Amino acid sequence: MKSWQEIGFEIEITGDGSPSLRMLELVNPDKPFGESMHHSGGACAETNLIYGEPIKETLAQVQAPHFMIVGLGLGYIEMVIAREALLAGLGPADLPMITSFESVPELRQFFMQWLRGSSEMHPEVTATYDQVVQSILNETSLDAPQIKNFLLNYFTKDSDIQGALSAERVFQEKYHCILYDAFSSKTTPTLWNEEFLNSFLKNVPASICSFSTYACRASLKRALKEQGFEVIIREGFQGKRNSTLAKKM
Ligand SMILES: C[S@@+](CC[C@H](N)C(=O)[O-])C[C@H]1O[C@@H](n2cnc3c(N)ncnc32)[C@H](O)[C@@H]1O
Repeated sequence: MKSWQEIGFEIEITGDGSPSLRMLELVNPDKPFGESMHHSGGACAETNLIYGEPIKETLAQVQAPHFMIVGLGLGYIEMVIAREALLAGLGPADLPMITSFESVPELRQFFMQWLRGSSEMHPEVTATYDQVVQSILNETSLDAPQIKNFLLNYFTKDSDIQGALSAERVFQEKYHCILYDAFSSKTTPTLWNEEFLNSFLKNVPASICSFSTYACRASLKRALKEQGFEVIIREGFQGKRNSTLAKKM
C-alpha cells in the first residue's frame, strides 16, 4: 500500500480544485520543483481544453474510433473519453480501442486498482482518483461508477495499460485520435525527438486522425506537417504558450 511520496510524487491541488501530481525529483535545475503533470491553474480545466474537443469531434465524426493516450498519469484523459462517450449515448461497442501508455509501473497499478475498487490502496491515493473523477463529472448527471465501468472494458488486467512508449515500439493498430500528454522534453527527450516523432506519426495514425497536445514545439510541428497533418496552433491554457491540434483527413 504505497503513498504518492513513496513512488516519487506529491499532490498539488490546482486552481480549479482538481488534483495533479508533481515529481519529487528535480529534472530542471532552473526550477525549485519537479515537473508537474498539469498547469497549476487547473488540471481538469486544462485537460478539457486541450483534449476534450478532439475527443468529442472524433466521437461525432469517426465510426468505431481508436484512441491513444501517451501519458496516463492520473487518467484524466481516459475519464474524459468515457464521459464524452457516455454523454453521446455511446457504449464500449462503439469505441473498439483505448490504448494508454505510462512508464511508471505504480501509476498503471494504482489506476487499475482504483477502477476495480480495490481496498488495498493507500487512502490518500484512492482519494486523489476520487477527486479526479468528481472534477471531470462536474455539471454532468453521470456518476463515478459509470466512468469506472466504462473504462473497465478496456483496462481489465494490469498488462492492458502499456508501459513506456519508446522508439523500439512496433505498432499493429492505427489510431483516429492521439492525445499526446507526455512530460516535457527536459524530462522525456525521446518523445519529442523529431526522428522519433516522424516515425511515430508515419506509423500510428489512421487515414483520418486528430492529434492534440499541450505543447507547441517546432520539431513536433515539422513532423506533423511532414506526415500530412494540417497543424492548427491553439491558444495555450491560461496564458501558457500555445498548444497544438493537428488533423489528417
Ligand atoms: C503530463 S503527465 C500525463 C498526465 C495525464 N494525462 C493525466 O491525465 O493525469 C505525463 C505522464 O507521462 C508519463 N511518461 C513519462 N515517460 C513516458 C513514456 N516514455 N511513455 C509513456 N508515458 C510516459 C509520466 O510518468 C507521466 O505520468
